[in-house]
Amino acid sequence: MSDTTPKKKLRSTEWFGHNDKNGFMYRSWMKNQGFPDHEFDGRPVIGICNTWSELTPCNAHFRKIAEHVRRGVYEAGGFPVEFPVFSNGESNLRPTAMLTRNLAAMDVEEAIRGNPIDAVVLLAGCDKTTPALLMGAASCDVPAIVVSGGPMLNGKLDGKNIGSGTSVWQLHESLKAGEIDLHKFLSAEAGMSRSAGTCNTMGTASTMACMAESLGVTLPHNAAIPAVDARRYVLAHLSGQRIVQMAKDDLTLSKILTRQAFENAIRTNAAIGGSTNAVIHLKAIAGRIGVDLELEDWTRVGQGMPTLVDLMPSGRFLMEEFYYAGGLPGVLRRMGEAGLLPHPEALTVNGHSLWDNVREAPIHDPEVIRPLDKPLIADGSIRVLRGNLSPRGAVLKPSAATPTLLKHRGRAVVFENLEHYKERIVDEDLDVDADSVLVLKNCGPRGYPGMAEVGNMGLPPKLLRQGIKDMVRISDARMSGTAYGTVVLHVAPEAAAGGPLAMVRDGDWIELDSDAGRLHLDISDEEYASRMADVQKSLPPPGGGYRKLYVEHVLQADEGCDLDFLVGCRGAAVPRHSH
Ligand code: FES
Ligand code: MG
Repeated sequence: MSDTTPKKKLRSTEWFGHNDKNGFMYRSWMKNQGFPDHEFDGRPVIGICNTWSELTPCNAHFRKIAEHVRRGVYEAGGFPVEFPVFSNGESNLRPTAMLTRNLAAMDVEEAIRGNPIDAVVLLAGCDKTTPALLMGAASCDVPAIVVSGGPMLNGKLDGKNIGSGTSVWQLHESLKAGEIDLHKFLSAEAGMSRSAGTCNTMGTASTMACMAESLGVTLPHNAAIPAVDARRYVLAHLSGQRIVQMAKDDLTLSKILTRQAFENAIRTNAAIGGSTNAVIHLKAIAGRIGVDLELEDWTRVGQGMPTLVDLMPSGRFLMEEFYYAGGLPGVLRRMGEAGLLPHPEALTVNGHSLWDNVREAPIHDPEVIRPLDKPLIADGSIRVLRGNLSPRGAVLKPSAATPTLLKHRGRAVVFENLEHYKERIVDEDLDVDADSVLVLKNCGPRGYPGMAEVGNMGLPPKLLRQGIKDMVRISDARMSGTAYGTVVLHVAPEAAAGGPLAMVRDGDWIELDSDAGRLHLDISDEEYASRMADVQKSLPPPGGGYRKLYVEHVLQADEGCDLDFLVGCRGAAVPRHSH
């Protein structure tokens, strides 16, 4: 294979490759940045898609990462051009960063297709930025490589490790239980987030970085190198270097994001104790590239896979230790050696198979990356629950749950929406005990809108004071990947769209059986039918702007919450001239 001659005519040639009026215009305005003539000689133009923003603190160091990508692109003879896209910051964006994941994906898709870009490096970090960038790039099917921002260093409080998110939930419950005071609670703020990077737990950001690596769209070790470790910049440099050859080889996303790649990712999610949000994001990415992923694939492919990675929220350690222990290549090697990597031959962005990349990966700490005969959880796969409460499915993460609650029957305590929950949960007279099932409605994709991370609702303070640490909770919401508990999420259809969750009443008996994949409201068929006949859709007023577009077109959780008209690959044919 030729190293230098592109396999296919480059898109950028249609902008820069003609000595006519249009070529003049496309080149001349670019030259105002100081680019010399030879940049326009037909070398691959590499877009560096940047989600940098000071309002997305997890991605605030991305200008420096972009600089290292740029070095690699230049070194390999490419023409790097950095461009910004909408940045979804999980910690600040209200009502939820999920509302705008699809907006960011639209931004990415249109920016790639409309510009002289041959291949793209996707700089992703905070939760939604990884799926948004992959969704947008997948709809164009250009060569693409993901460079993640990397996790923050371990959080510290009183000399001990604390984890992003996970420790906030724990400290807040301790505060409500009267175990710590407000001063102690607030003193954790600065120590928890003490370096650049994403959440240092196995939250959604780290999960999605691991998903990207197991899908084959990153170089090895992308997921775990800390954000401030110099090796993160080496990885960015090497990714910039590699994407130039990918552009020449026309190694597009559809050659990597195959069904086999998604099956590898699903199995990997169980091995790492990954976030439930991956269920929604992988479905949405798969939809963009034309792979038909079903909720049941999480059972079919994932079931039986032990959780090997001992990270918060399921376990003890943080991403720093995960990298030092061997990172995702170590996990993939363990899986492969045990015959548990479904498709070791799957192609990755460096041109090698996933297995070739990891077959000799060292594991330095068997406490962090456990051996198969000493797993953290025997079966860590995300469970899909169906029944008359969730006809289109719901999910539960057993590695973050209390084993004794995974089969449970209890009486519902119902909250109509988040405000109702907040008002009622602190009521000392609330009729609730440790066996009750907390039910939260109207927090789904259309109802919230945006499907907020509120499913891990805090327990009633009076039960916390009794030492209760977990209860069964059910909602149409999501939960943060950093959160834990016996929490049934993503109930579909959601309450606001007229799903059966809408007709649950205080005192109803609910049965959860995680192993059997069952979620059941124990009322008679007649009662069920008569209540359903009365269910009203309770959608928020549409208003205008993007929010109106979103509420009218968003798909349910089992379909990945993409907008219906964005599903699918639309390619990267060069549009008509602009002048
Ligand atoms: Fe950005 Fe967790 S809030 S990665
Ligand atoms: Mg999160």
